Amino acid sequence: MKKKGKRVTIAMDGPAGSGKSTVARYVAEKLGLLYLDSGAMYRAVTVLAIDNNVEKHTSKLIELVKKCNIEFKNNGKTIYLNNEDVSERIRSQEVNLLVADIAKVPEIRKEIVAHQVRIGEKGNIIAEGRDLTTIVFPQADFKFYLDATVQERAKRRFADLQAQHVNTTLKAVELEISERDKKDISREHSPLKAAADAIVVDTTGKTIEEVVDIIVSKVKT
Ligand code: DC
Repeated sequence: MKKKGKRVTIAMDGPAGSGKSTVARYVAEKLGLLYLDSGAMYRAVTVLAIDNNVEKHTSKLIELVKKCNIEFKNNGKTIYLNNEDVSERIRSQEVNLLVADIAKVPEIRKEIVAHQVRIGEKGNIIAEGRDLTTIVFPQADFKFYLDATVQERAKRRFADLQAQHVNTTLKAVELEISERDKKDISREHSPLKAAADAIVVDTTGKTIEEVVDIIVSKVKT
């Protein structure tokens, strides 16, 4: 239960396409919390790698990550990399295909996690990603793990890509999501998994509003 006036930290994990970003954004609005999209930070690092041609040069990329500046504005809706708005570029197909390989590098994770912990220090935050309930905010007041079948998650991602006029097929997106799941689940550092004390919410067949209501009611009651 959220006590009146108490600063609350909500951490939420789940696989690609589980709806975490959209759900977290709505919950943030409803409860007046800061929204932290941790995946966007790994995506921004991927843009950094592409722009500097160091996708395959991990040690050079790590040096760039240590010096770079990643900032959220507009309550987490806009992300800046070295003062450039990269909010659209981080959602490109080029980044989708590269990000899991970049996000598995432990030195990169260490820098990004430290940054996330700093952002969360003031509390009143909802943070979502792959290791928020296990590594970044293990002491969060509320932990949720959002899940859905691969087919449902692929359908959602396919609809997003179609809206962006990306030429692909549902089958290709399903394959891409399965590959990303495998990488996220089996990686050595911070693999995707539900924290033992996380509340698991299966979002298959549920609307965003239904999932938001489940979460808000758990936090309020
Ligand atoms: O949630 P997303 O699709 O924006 O995440 C992009 C990638 O970053 C995905 O491959 C998993 C990775 N990621 C991570 O390793 N740790 C996080 N806390 C968030 C995302």
